[in-house]
Formats: sequence, C-alpha cells, structure tokens
Amino acid sequence: MDKLLLKRANIPRASRIEVARAHGAYEAVRLAFGMRPVDVIDEVKRSGLRGRGGAGFPTGVKWSFAAMDPKTPKYIICNADEGEPGTFKDRFILEGDPHLLIEGMLIAGYAIGAERGYLYLRGEYPAAAAILEDAIGQAYRAGFLGKNILGRGVSFDLSLHLGAGAYICGEETALIESLEGKRGQPRLRPPFPANAGAWGKPTVVNNVETLANVPGVLALGWEAYSKIGAEGSPGTKIFSVSGAVNRPGGYELPLGTTLRELIFAHCGGIRNNKKLKAIIPGGASTSMLTPEHLDVKMDFNSLLAAGSMLGSGAVIVMDEETCMVHATSVLARFFAHESCGKCTPCREGTGWLNQVYERMVRCDGRPGDVDALLAVCGKMKGKCFCPLGEGAIQPVLSSIRHFRADYEVCASKRCSGERCRGKVQVRQAAGAAPKSDLP
Ligand SMILES: Cc1cc2nc3c(=O)[nH]c(=O)nc-3n(C[C@H](O)[C@H](O)[C@H](O)COP(=O)(O)O)c2cc1C
Ligand code: SF4
Repeated sequence: MDKLLLKRANIPRASRIEVARAHGAYEAVRLAFGMRPVDVIDEVKRSGLRGRGGAGFPTGVKWSFAAMDPKTPKYIICNADEGEPGTFKDRFILEGDPHLLIEGMLIAGYAIGAERGYLYLRGEYPAAAAILEDAIGQAYRAGFLGKNILGRGVSFDLSLHLGAGAYICGEETALIESLEGKRGQPRLRPPFPANAGAWGKPTVVNNVETLANVPGVLALGWEAYSKIGAEGSPGTKIFSVSGAVNRPGGYELPLGTTLRELIFAHCGGIRNNKKLKAIIPGGASTSMLTPEHLDVKMDFNSLLAAGSMLGSGAVIVMDEETCMVHATSVLARFFAHESCGKCTPCREGTGWLNQVYERMVRCDGRPGDVDALLAVCGKMKGKCFCPLGEGAIQPVLSSIRHFRADYEVCASKRCSGERCRGKVQVRQAAGAAPKSDLP
C-alpha cells in the first residue's frame, strides 16, 4: 500500500523544503487554490476523513461549521500536544515531514477563511520544536506562508506555541485557554470551538495526523481516498505500538487492519516468545482488550463494537508476565496526576483510584478493594466535566472485567510478587513505611 502520511518521513532531510518539494510537497496547495473554499470543504467531507485526535469527528463537517460562521477572524489550531501514555504517532510527522503538516494547515485555513494558524506543540518535544520552527521559516521564505501566497491573494500566518507539560491541554478547549495565556482547564461546551474558540472566534482544532491527511485527500480525490481503509473509517492511520512486541514503533496501515496483523505481521509478535495477555488499542484512556480480540479491526466502528475505542491508535501490548493490577496502577497514577482539578468527581475520583492501586501494588491490598475501585468508577461515570475523567475509568473497569483474577490475588495478599514488583515492595515494606516503586 502507498503511504499517505509517512511517504516522505524516511527520506533524508525531508524537513528541508527543497527536498520535500522534490517529493511532492505543496502540490496539493495549488490544487486547493484552484478550487473554491466551499469545494475544498466538500471534497474533505465526501472523502469521509475523520479526526485522528481521538473522537473521530468528521473533519469536513467541523470545517463547514467554522466556515459558515460570520464572525472573523477565524483560526486554525493544530493540536500537537500528544501527551497520552503510549501515543507517539504525531511525532513521526512533526519530526519527519513538517511540510506535510504545514501544507495541511494552509489548505484548512484557505477552506474555512482563516488567515492565522497556531501549532500547539507538546513542550516535551524539543527536537520537533526546532524542526518545526525551522520548517515554518523555510515555508515563509518560499512564499507558502505570509501574504499573497502563490500570488493568489491568500494570506496565512503560522506560529509555533509550546505547551508546558499538562495532558489536559490536549483537550481542545483547555488547549485554547492555554493558548490565550490562561490556566489550561476545559471550557463548558457548547458553544464549540468551531463557533466560539480562540478569543471567542470561529476556530478549527485538528490533530496533526488529521491535517496531514488533507493533502492526500486532495491529491487522490475524495473518491479514491474514501476507498482506502474500512467502511466508516476511510484512510490510513499511524499506529504507535509499544510494549511487549519484537518491533515496537510507528506503522502506517489502512484503517481496518486487524490487531493480529498489526501485532504479529508488522510488529514481529510477542517478545521472548511469551503469550499475549492484554492490549490497549487506542491510548491510555481506551478499554483493554484480550487475545480473544485479535481479529478485531482497528477502525472506529469495529473497536466500539468490541467495547473499546480507536482513540489515538496507540497500541500497548502486554504479555503473560504482566500483572494487570500493576499495569493499571501506572495509568491510575497518571490520571490522578493529570486531573486538572476543575470538577469534583474527577479530581477526587482519580485520587481515590490511585490510592487504592498504590496500596494494592505494595502488597497491602484489602478484600474489599475491587469493590472500592468499582464504586469509585461508578461515582465518576457520566459525571465528569470533560472526557479525561471518563477516560480515567476505562482501564480500571476493563482490566477488572477481563483480569479479575489478578485483582483477587492482589487484594487477598496471595501475590507471590513474581509478576508485579511485589517482591521488591515487600522487601521495602518490611519495617519502614512502604515506598511506591512505580516507574
Ligand atoms: C484529556 C484529553 C487529551 C487530549 N489530547 C489530545 C492530543 O494530545 N492531541 C489531539 O489531537 N487531541 C487530543 N484530544 C482530543 C481533542 O480534544 C480534540 O478532539 C482533537 O484535537 C480534535 O481534532 P480532530 O478532530 O482532528 O481529531 C484530547 C482530549 C482529551 C479529553
Ligand atoms: S474531568 Fe478531570 S480533567 Fe476534566 S475538568 Fe474535570 S477535573 Fe478537569
């Protein structure tokens, strides 16, 4: 299959505009400028492209909301916060082919009538920051950014903005607050950013990978693009695969590729010939799956039907040696740390979940702990202000659902410490106050 997103990422010096242009960069801009903005939006709508940031919202539909809003100015924001554990897909584009992203942002700006774009980048990506800053400068000098682009009277300015390390700032309204210089906390929706986003103006927030798809949609045409991938999930996807596989990394494959093909054909199977135990298919906030789900297709609808979500497409693979209580405790600690504190169910709930996990992994579990975890999840479900809280309970609920036996062992102190770090923790616990040794 021809790659759409990583086609230049492995070409040496593809972040240089002359190299990127020699391999087709900015050709789709010419196609877009030859069309009316409304026709560009129509092309993206008909392609069926869905957002790659997690929610899978149809991109063309989002663009049309902002385009139709009479307020000006309008903004395009690229969400490059990429802060979820296991997710490192955008990085391949940001570092390997920044001009693909700039081109996608320029086309999006033209389509909705935005003359200003912001690239909100995860603060912990310093290499990407340097590459992007340089690429933006090159695009200005080559006349693809700034005033009167390609002599067509189109203007588009683009700035890089670095986040400061908060996962919640990947949520689009918290991102906008942060961009405006405020504390990064989510806003009440509606109104949605497409109508009242940055500085109250129509704003499209799109993920890196979503925007990087746009040049390909125009180059191929909506019909050919919509035939790639699965029904309801057209196109390709970069899956970032980590954990107990022989070849972890980023794989661009058509949506609808099965987990089995991804893990065994592309990633070389499970490390050290161990058995597969669990899979997180779409990033830390998606429900865990088991080996029984290996034939599930990696697309929006199939994963929903299997009880999980495509999310960011970050696949975390765990082998038979993994203690699921320990693995889930790492995620519980992440969510407790990253809860922004704005609403009580999430602020308190993630803290309580973390406390119960902490005592379980230091071999201090109690018989009622599993029920306590389920009760806290029940108090959070459907009651949190933004999706972070809802995401935080998915690994807990799914790991208890599929791997309750691990929990029972932990809670009843029958753990031998073979599979978790219990051994180390038991030693630490002897005498002194137990110290968590979570990584
Ligand atoms: C806690 C949280 C973190 C998020 N982090 C990201 C992120 O790092 N990158 C991203 O593109 N979307 C992230 N999202 C989703 C965004 O809110 C938004 O849906 C997305 O940027 C829209 O782009 P898309 O339509 O292209 O998918 C996050 C959502 C939540 C609730
Ligand atoms: S759900 Fe969590 S992250 Fe979202 S607003 Fe509430 S406290 Fe903040």
